[in-house]
Amino acid sequence: MLAQSVSAASPLLGFTGIAASTADDIALPPGYKARPLISWGQPLQAGGPAFDAKGGNSAAEQEVQFGDNNDGMSLFPFPGEPDRALMAINNEYTNYKLLFSHGGAPQSAEDVRKALASEGVSVIEVRRQQGQWQFVQGSPYNRRIHGNSPLRFSGPAAGDALLKTAADPSGTQVLGTFQNCANGKTPWGTYLTCEENFTDCFGCSDPNQAMNTAQKRYGVSAASKEVNWHPHDPRFDLAKNPNELNRHGWVVEIDPFDPKSTPVKRTALGRFKHENAAVGQTADGRAVVYMGDDERGEFIYRFISRDRITPDNPKANRDLLDHGTLYVARFDEGDGSAEHPRGRGRWVELSHGKHGLDAAAGFESQAQVLIHARQAATLLKATRMDRPEWIVISPRDGQVYCTLTNNIKRGDDGQPVGGPNPRAKNVYGQILRWRQLGNDHAADTFEWDLFAVAGNPVAHTEGPGRGSPNITAQNLFNSPDGLAFDDGGRLWILTDGDMSNAGDFAGMGNNQMLAADPASGEIRRFMVGPVGCEVTGIAFSPDHKTLFVGIQHPGESGVSTFPEHLPGGTPRSSVMAITRDDGGVIGA
Ligand code: FEO
Ligand code: CA
Ligand code: CA
Repeated sequence: MLAQSVSAASPLLGFTGIAASTADDIALPPGYKARPLISWGQPLQAGGPAFDAKGGNSAAEQEVQFGDNNDGMSLFPFPGEPDRALMAINNEYTNYKLLFSHGGAPQSAEDVRKALASEGVSVIEVRRQQGQWQFVQGSPYNRRIHGNSPLRFSGPAAGDALLKTAADPSGTQVLGTFQNCANGKTPWGTYLTCEENFTDCFGCSDPNQAMNTAQKRYGVSAASKEVNWHPHDPRFDLAKNPNELNRHGWVVEIDPFDPKSTPVKRTALGRFKHENAAVGQTADGRAVVYMGDDERGEFIYRFISRDRITPDNPKANRDLLDHGTLYVARFDEGDGSAEHPRGRGRWVELSHGKHGLDAAAGFESQAQVLIHARQAATLLKATRMDRPEWIVISPRDGQVYCTLTNNIKRGDDGQPVGGPNPRAKNVYGQILRWRQLGNDHAADTFEWDLFAVAGNPVAHTEGPGRGSPNITAQNLFNSPDGLAFDDGGRLWILTDGDMSNAGDFAGMGNNQMLAADPASGEIRRFMVGPVGCEVTGIAFSPDHKTLFVGIQHPGESGVSTFPEHLPGGTPRSSVMAITRDDGGVIGA
């Protein structure tokens, strides 16, 4: 059966698909409503500093408020307490025009401290009261882990010379996690937060300093893009602290139930621009973690732990992610089908001493393989992908789905068109999936196909811009990014794309969330976000009667006053709670 051939309305999708929208509000199917759970700047503790909509909060105040630009998140129920849970929520970056009263890039060390305070992770307690999940201000579990919080390294690269700095001669202690994009949740109850665009935060005060090969490969520029931390905090100045760059770009493990615990950067999972971390189990009970590196032409990775998960003793799994093997994906050319490309692929091991990963090739140790994972994967001829974003594992059949959000450089720059990346100058993106041989995540080979190729069949009635047959005039979208499966097997798709609603993108409106039936291939639009937002971050209450979704940076382009809609009001990134008027399961 072709996944893309849409059969009659799917029984899995029980809601009425909605129209695209350019309004500054959330649109939902009839019978659904959304309300904010928490917004940027809300104080986490009782009596904490109130949010100042004019950017007047100090750095110390932002350190105890909900962070900005919420992204990936997970919900952790309290065992035996159905109305109580913790949520760990990423705060990816910030919006200077709102963060500071001066509205520009950081101008002082205090400004940089505030920017660092706005990023990282927020852990909050939530409770269901009168049928509605609510943020519990003042809970002892509420916590900020931000860009200046103390963390530690573990795994093969901890203590390596490349991680040592004047402030940390041991190479094992590090300040901060920032640019926290998406997430993962382990079966032993911990949260994984993924450091994505960390290189944007670094710059160089010496105009004559040339970037070395590794710095170039990870995309550092002396000018620090627009972030501008290095003139005011020497930690981010490559002329003064070149190794600080190596201390970011990792997956960080957090125990939300222990507010005093030190988060750990797990180096065995490799260093790159981590999007999310999809955790599953191999047939023999070891942990598997699938991960994408979100940059044009970068790779998809897999980690498999050395040891088995101990199901009944969470503490026994505390260091499970420190020992194991990292792999990178190689895809074949596929069958070349325009309607439904499919093919095979394999995982290649990124281990020092194998496949030419040795001193002669510039890798002295496994630590160096992990710190320079991109160069190691290139040596292994991994397949350059169209910006891998989220990866999820189907709870129904174990197939793995990955959004490839877009890639305008496909076809140039040594990135051949074909296989799972079938379009030159790919502005729309696609959703890749694969089935591991024998349905075992430990297998080294897999079969892939494209579940959806986004496009615009109205603007392009034929040719590559049309997209796959399951893209219709009713469900147009571009740049799939967030992904989640619910327990019912629905695949939720969140977008971070072009919101111009014109040209190639005519009819798509604002960023949105759709739900798909993996078996029939049908995709239906469920929600549209407000003006200028990205829709990112998704979690479900245990009964699936509340869906939490993130509205990130409303008004980043255009004008938004979401969610409060006060005249001339400040737009605020928010986590929204979506419920059904009849109390039913979301999407069913
Ligand atoms: Fe933070 Fe690749 O999105
Ligand atoms: Ca993303
Ligand atoms: Ca994105």
